[in-house]
Amino acid sequence: MAVLGTGYLGATHAVCMAELGFTVIGYDVDTAKVARLSVGEVPFFEPGLEELLRKNLESGRLSFTAEIGDVATWADVHFICVGTPQRPSDGGADLTYVDAVVDALIDTGLAPGALVVGKSTVPTGTAAALAARIHAAAPDAELAWNPEFLREGFAVNDTLRPDRLVFGVMPDGAAEARLRAVYAQTIEAGTPVVVTDYATAELVKVAANAFLATKISFINAMAEICDVAGADVLELATSIGYDARIGSRFLRPGIGFGGGCLPKDIRAFQARATELGAADSLAFLAEVDAVNLRARGRAVTLTRSALGGTVDGRRLGVLGAAFKPNSDDIRDSPALDIAAALAADGALVTVYDPAAVPNARPRYPSLNYASSVREAVTGADAVLVLTEWGEFRELDPAALLSYVAGAVMVDGRHALDAARWRAAGWTYHSLGRPAAA
Ligand code: UGA
Repeated sequence: MAVLGTGYLGATHAVCMAELGFTVIGYDVDTAKVARLSVGEVPFFEPGLEELLRKNLESGRLSFTAEIGDVATWADVHFICVGTPQRPSDGGADLTYVDAVVDALIDTGLAPGALVVGKSTVPTGTAAALAARIHAAAPDAELAWNPEFLREGFAVNDTLRPDRLVFGVMPDGAAEARLRAVYAQTIEAGTPVVVTDYATAELVKVAANAFLATKISFINAMAEICDVAGADVLELATSIGYDARIGSRFLRPGIGFGGGCLPKDIRAFQARATELGAADSLAFLAEVDAVNLRARGRAVTLTRSALGGTVDGRRLGVLGAAFKPNSDDIRDSPALDIAAALAADGALVTVYDPAAVPNARPRYPSLNYASSVREAVTGADAVLVLTEWGEFRELDPAALLSYVAGAVMVDGRHALDAARWRAAGWTYHSLGRPAAA
């Protein structure tokens, strides 16, 4: 098998396919990434992945290359795992990397009967267009669309034990049977399989992410209402979540969603719907996006009011930089967006994150960086928790008091026990809960 693209998705997929017993070569144009993976280093933070990478490198089943010639004719199955970033012009998906990798395969030559499997998140219609190109160049090669639903921080588990497998295939082809063979162990373990057409497979992926984003923005809109009504959004979320039709997962209010997927996917989905003449159908996603971005602004306002109306010249200790815990990914991170806005307002902001500081430092030069919680909060007029790492949840509020200049806590993720922090002498602030709750 070849895995084309070795970012979060591709590196994890390559390692997991080798773990399932296949001989796998991971391909990437980024020679530095290939060099690091080849010596057993994962170039990003992902729990459990490095151990499995080393194990499978040692077994000889897994290797990496920057030469397309090493994989094009060699592999029976090619997984496309390259990124589809946001196009700055209209928010649509930039397919440059997908096109480049397919062109490279076609130009170098595919093995007879090769199966190309798309896993990248793409606008609907992409698979049909790629299939036509592949068939024109290699008539007996086939394309399938098999979207990936892994979450950063749980990537290995989500890849080896996914909630479902979706196979978008052409009727009458061999792709379904071949994909069933590829995923035989996962299917035997009880994972449901949906076999469908290309367009549906492409849409399942973006629809799932749109639904998740909507769920988060729904509860953050409720937090806005709770703020004006004097109600408590955590109790509200718990109460509606007991209804099994609603469910309690992905109802965590706070500063909203970020990362390399949900924000860009809802924008690309709207751009594609507009191209298809169905802009109205996804107009609500513009609201989902707006509520999400508003949560960041509300956290800035909350911090300002917690400090008496201005942050100018005040010292802030920010705990968290990654877009979520157990990740060093800072793409569209609400935490860094808020920290940078506060710095732009004149605050002296010092950020600590267990994993993401090396990524944040060059991108956000207006912020200071610390190598521990203690260093970040020493002398701070207020402390903000903006990514809910376990390390922050376990902080002892009484112990922290001796380092800070002001016992003011802004909990952007509802990560802390408000009553405990208040009892220790802190003023505790969060979005969507009464000031004294
Ligand atoms: C997301 C989806 O959950 C995956 O299923 C999907 O495969 C992936 O995008 C992708 O398209 O590749 P991921 O971006 O890793 O995964 O992160 P999530 O766990 O979904 O979190 C996204 C953001 O939502 C984070 O910033 C998180 O803090 C926020 N969030 C999540 C909330 O604010 N509240 C919640 O209740 C849950």
